[in-house]
Amino acid sequence: MGSKAALQLDASGEAEQARYFSRLRCPNCSSNALTANSESTAIICSNCSTSYPLITVGKRAIPFLFAHVESVLHGWTARLNGFLQKNHATLESLRNTLADKKMSKLTRQRVKLLLKAKEQYAVQITSRLPFFSENHCTQNISGNIQLAQNQGVDSYLNNIFRDWCWENGENEQLLQALADVLPASFKAGEVLTMGAGASRLSFDFHHCWNADYSVLLDINPLLLTTARQIIDGETVSLYEFPVAPSSLENNAVLQKCKLPEACEQTQADQFECILGDASNVPFADKTFDTILTPWLIDIIPMDLREFIPHVNRLLKTGGVWANTGSLAFFHKNESWNYSENELIDLLKKYGFEVEHAQRKEIQYLHSPHSSHGRIENVFSFSARKKFDSVIAKPHIYLPDWITDDTRAIPQLNELVAASSKHLLQAQVLAAIDGVRCIREIGGLLAKQYDMSEENASAAVRQILIDNYKDYIA
Ligand SMILES: C[S@@+](CC[C@H](N)C(=O)[O-])C[C@H]1O[C@@H](n2cnc3c(N)ncnc32)[C@H](O)[C@@H]1O
Repeated sequence: MGSKAALQLDASGEAEQARYFSRLRCPNCSSNALTANSESTAIICSNCSTSYPLITVGKRAIPFLFAHVESVLHGWTARLNGFLQKNHATLESLRNTLADKKMSKLTRQRVKLLLKAKEQYAVQITSRLPFFSENHCTQNISGNIQLAQNQGVDSYLNNIFRDWCWENGENEQLLQALADVLPASFKAGEVLTMGAGASRLSFDFHHCWNADYSVLLDINPLLLTTARQIIDGETVSLYEFPVAPSSLENNAVLQKCKLPEACEQTQADQFECILGDASNVPFADKTFDTILTPWLIDIIPMDLREFIPHVNRLLKTGGVWANTGSLAFFHKNESWNYSENELIDLLKKYGFEVEHAQRKEIQYLHSPHSSHGRIENVFSFSARKKFDSVIAKPHIYLPDWITDDTRAIPQLNELVAASSKHLLQAQVLAAIDGVRCIREIGGLLAKQYDMSEENASAAVRQILIDNYKDYIA
């Protein structure tokens, strides 16, 4: 195990690199033909010729190993641009409010504080993601465009503060939730965390159970590059904007994120960061002794019947899957929103023996600078792999009639319903001329759609409310 070390392309010898790459699997063609290019700036697959970038963080390199790699790169560049545009609009709006002569002295003080902090925040985020500030828009951006649709670059920012700054006991509670379900004889061995985020739980787990090696996998470059730097002993400064600031000053708090004070030996070389997708993990079958999935299984946009085989594939027989987090599924397909006993049943079906499971209340994201925080009832289990389950296939995020420009688009009921809704909305908005009122526009619609004037007016009002909320206030 001593031979394994996190990727430092300039520092590793040939034999070490060969060992490193022998465990990886190409996310595009599934072959084990990955190797570094001659300049050590990218990983290339000698089977399918795909080139995967390496993101430099200090002396380390974080591989960016996604299928449809160009479109995922483009996706993060677009998200960073979206973040900057939104931040710019917020700054403009804050500046405009300062023109209000009736604004109280204290409010002016708060607006100025926010202005200064949000200006610096844009610089902090951009400077943490230089790779994505460059223009990665290439010809080939079709494919898996919508990986983690609702996630922005800074969506899980508070996780960084909880993990490396607040030290409010939440990290210990989560570690304990895992300890509660692991058997006394448990040996961590080689550990993979799927959706590691800012990675404190993986870090604590590694030290607590004396793991040999820990791979931290996530799709989010801000979280993972920050985790990498902190584990390597650096301090990262970032603004926190608490949800419910407990004082005027706490509207924007410049945080210093770093290793906990008591942490003397971090074994940083034993941590490997990989930017990759939990539904297409770029490692060979049966690589890991332990897999952690903290706060992941309910947010991953797929049926657990599809996801569990991925965990099974990566675990050695006899290896342990340790899970913790809420079961707050929000799938549109209700049949995927599993309850605890259905989940346990699925685990058995897909090759696991559940050794222990429990539900426990824990504190969640209580910033010391905010009067807001949640209590979560987390579901934790440890399950041992008994047999190989069905073959795990990379998740298809979008159907081919969206990713392939030449496919016929099916006339799905949902699209037909959406078209009537949008058509009605377009007609209402087009009828606005600065003179007509709801009743008059409703009257026009009532004739066209053979509705009562009352119902038509109600529909017009609803469309106006939706647009008012989306675009005006
Ligand atoms: C609720 S956060 C939990 C983060 C971390 N495990 C923790 O406990 O703080 C969910 C994490 O899953 C990551 N994630 C979402 N979809 C993913 C995917 N398909 N593959 C890998 N990570 C994913 C997100 O980027 C985020 O870091």
